[in-house]
Amino acid sequence: EKGGYDYFMLKEIAEQPKAVADTLLGRIDAAGSLRLDELRIPPRVLRELDKVVIVACGTAFHAGLIAKYAIEHWTRIPCEVELASEFRYRDPILDPQTLVIAVSQSGETMDTLMALRHAREQGSHVLAICNTNGSTIPRESDAVLYTHAGPEVAVASTKAFLTQLVACYLVALYLGQVRGTKWGDEIQDVIKDLSSISGAVERVLKTMEPVRELARSLADKNTVLFLGRHVGYPVALEGALKLKELAYMHAEGFAAGELKHGPIALIEEDLPVVVVVPSPRGRSVLHDKIVSNIQEIRARGARTIVIAEEGDEAVVPYADHLVRIPVTPTLLQPLVAAVPMQVFACELATARGNDVDQPRNLAKSVTVE
Ligand code: F6R
Repeated sequence: EKGGYDYFMLKEIAEQPKAVADTLLGRIDAAGSLRLDELRIPPRVLRELDKVVIVACGTAFHAGLIAKYAIEHWTRIPCEVELASEFRYRDPILDPQTLVIAVSQSGETMDTLMALRHAREQGSHVLAICNTNGSTIPRESDAVLYTHAGPEVAVASTKAFLTQLVACYLVALYLGQVRGTKWGDEIQDVIKDLSSISGAVERVLKTMEPVRELARSLADKNTVLFLGRHVGYPVALEGALKLKELAYMHAEGFAAGELKHGPIALIEEDLPVVVVVPSPRGRSVLHDKIVSNIQEIRARGARTIVIAEEGDEAVVPYADHLVRIPVTPTLLQPLVAAVPMQVFACELATARGNDVDQPRNLAKSVTVE
């Protein structure tokens, strides 16, 4: 049932190109427009929305953080992302013009379920993004967009995460399409790029041997830090979460711009720091700033592990280890940048003798608050 792999997690990492393609299947028509027929919230309601709130936990929360960048950029609707466990306890502002998106692989996470119940009680529309047919969260929502990752058995989420991102992008682009934003042309281009993104995920997977080797060489470390900016920041958080839950190591993700406000004090000789570098095209200011960050931490002794786009030569002099990812539009980069993080955590955990499919103290679905 592991299809020749030693662990479900390895199988699920390898299945990601297909999971991504399956989640897009039938949702983009021949003319390059989105068809989300299952989104049973009337276009009139979608046009009148004045706020989107995403609630989720863990890895699904990180997908939500990335979705915020896409939703606000393509639709200009303000978007908040909140940990489901915090949401209803602070009396959040909700009304019928709010779209609440509950993201959950299992569809059974109690924190997320309680958050969506609270939102519906306040009259908000709730859309579930979910991987499990007929589970509680989609049943209690107004509409559901299923991710088609297939069953995810390993406790740590991998393929479900990538498909959650795809579903979030689809919702963001669809809202842009329905509401007709000034980004119309860009939206058409992104839909095209999204439809070929599974090939890019496939390409990353084929180049992971050096990442595995690196992970094994770090098995006796105590701490790994992760840095990113823009959509790379939530990717850094996800990289750190994977390492905590699988390798039982201290790992933290930071927004690279925050380094100088405290975390840079943590940098010491030979500390591994993974940095997700934004594309040098597009928002090139951010790219240049992160290159300076890499220089700064390296000057203080950090061992830099740099995840950067193919063709980005500016990072080369400062990278102790360089991991290349395919060129993608800025907002879609997490779909390829997250993959080396998963492989890294899985291999490092295995090297430490841990059970990657069933990490200690964790359960696949968390049905208590
Ligand atoms: C991390 C992980 C958890 C889940 C979280 C939400 O690898 O698996 O952080 O992402 O418990 O679970 P779902 O998506 O089922 O609501």
